[in-house]
Amino acid sequence: MGDKTSADVTSPTIPTGSQWWREAVTYQLYIRSFADANGDGLGDVAGIRSHLEHLTTLGVDAVWINPWYPSPQADGGYDVADYRSVDPAFGTLDEGQQLIDEAHALGLKVMLDIVPNHTSDEHEWFRAALASPSGSPERDRYVFRRGQGPDGAAPPNNWRSVFGGPAWQRVTEPDGTPGEWYLHLFDTRQPDLNWSNREVRDEFLDVLRFWFDRGADGFRIDVAHGLVKDDALPDLVYTDESLLGATGFEGHPHWDLPGVHEIYREWRALADTYDPPKIFVAEAWVTDADRLSDYLRPDELHTAFDFDFVRSPWNADRLRATATASLAAHAKVGAPVVWVLSNHDITRHVTRFGRKQPEGEMPLFGAQGPVDVALGRRRARAALLLELALPGGVYLYQGEELGLEDIEDLPEEVLQDPTWQRSGHTERGRDGCRVPLPWAASGPSLGFGTGPGWLPAPSSWAELSVERQQDDPDSMLTLYRTALRLRRELPALGSGDGQPLRWLDLGADALGFTREPGFSCVINTGPAAVPIPDGEVLLASAPLDGVGVERRMVPADTAVWLRIS
Ligand code: BGC
Repeated sequence: MGDKTSADVTSPTIPTGSQWWREAVTYQLYIRSFADANGDGLGDVAGIRSHLEHLTTLGVDAVWINPWYPSPQADGGYDVADYRSVDPAFGTLDEGQQLIDEAHALGLKVMLDIVPNHTSDEHEWFRAALASPSGSPERDRYVFRRGQGPDGAAPPNNWRSVFGGPAWQRVTEPDGTPGEWYLHLFDTRQPDLNWSNREVRDEFLDVLRFWFDRGADGFRIDVAHGLVKDDALPDLVYTDESLLGATGFEGHPHWDLPGVHEIYREWRALADTYDPPKIFVAEAWVTDADRLSDYLRPDELHTAFDFDFVRSPWNADRLRATATASLAAHAKVGAPVVWVLSNHDITRHVTRFGRKQPEGEMPLFGAQGPVDVALGRRRARAALLLELALPGGVYLYQGEELGLEDIEDLPEEVLQDPTWQRSGHTERGRDGCRVPLPWAASGPSLGFGTGPGWLPAPSSWAELSVERQQDDPDSMLTLYRTALRLRRELPALGSGDGQPLRWLDLGADALGFTREPGFSCVINTGPAAVPIPDGEVLLASAPLDGVGVERRMVPADTAVWLRIS
């Protein structure tokens, strides 16, 4: 790098070729809440197509689109009725194809979302299962069992649904008598598939092929750790742990069983038949970084979200320890870490970081006490510079580039997350992180659509709209654009394959590291300013001037990128 300024750098490290996924920044499009082109209150494919420029200006490399398949939307589209089409509420298969083609023309990769653990109860397979007798091939595609007790009136075991209540639902047999029970680890409308059944495996290989052949560059795998169950269905001892974040343990009967790996070896073999190869990112909630890296062995999946990073509070020691463990575990299998701070299932990180930080793990669901949103935003700015400077890939969740917070006081009557119903109205669920994006400072849904959105955005979001932020040099949006541009330009950033990151010793409240060539990042998570190492400041998440006396300092809750010699 020598003494080049960022503007001089002409050889970007944009991921090209078949290894793009090792360092890509991927933008999560939660289609229901991104942009509503037809004014029905729900986001759609046309809405995404009309805002592709937002993504290219932001400077991301890829998009991940949440499930867009035909679905009764009992769980925001994670209840799929037909894996080979697009829900009419979102558009048509042709429009989906056009979106993929347009994104490609703009240099964006497209990841779709595959939901293999369960189908919708409106899927033709499940309808056939209900219409067929016990022991039939149609029932064997799902997990049907006789209930306990002389008349089978008690569920087969004590497993609980992630969304609350029992994980079993009894069916009425075609002859009208009370019959078998089927397993649903999520909503009753999401029956679990039986992955011991070869037909299920072949069907999903065919669905992957269907979308790969239409240009999808890869898939995010929903509940990747859940597909295989212990056939003996042993009872579980439940702890207080939030079920959605449940991670399993050695010997757990339905999370993270060794049998899942065989499935992903088959998927990888299929992905590798394409040129360039298709890729996967796993949503796998497992106990630790080593268990996660098992999914990333060379003949399995390419990447997996690092949820340990998500669960870290705003604390230098914890963030460093988590990053170190993740980097080490991934290095063992030659896979890049995928850093993430928010998604459509968890409390937005502005809100998480705006709370009193926990001693232990960061709670990811539910209101957890007072929130200082301004503090949360300040920390979110710093956290962005941390994750973009770490080696590997990054997933951004739509709206974080605007600094959106969770809306924890949505009126009860608008809540749609099945958690709200299934918890007997004790847990509000995840709608607070799914509120439609504010594109404009006015209008019934702040530019999301021509009418109201499916969830109401607070009027305070007018100030956070793209319209308000795009020309403001101090806005969150401008920080994202600048940081993403620099990340492409600076040779030290991105995958870091083969180039170790070196941690700096900055005391208990700050973390920092150097990367070659000539880059350093310092993040102050504590209340007192810390000195800036020698070097030229490339970017800071908050103003640095006026803090130090003899030399510039990094103020509280601030991060800085430096060029060092
Ligand atoms: C998805 C959730 C969904 C669940 C069941 C998850 O992990 O991200 O949104 O409710 O899987 O499909």
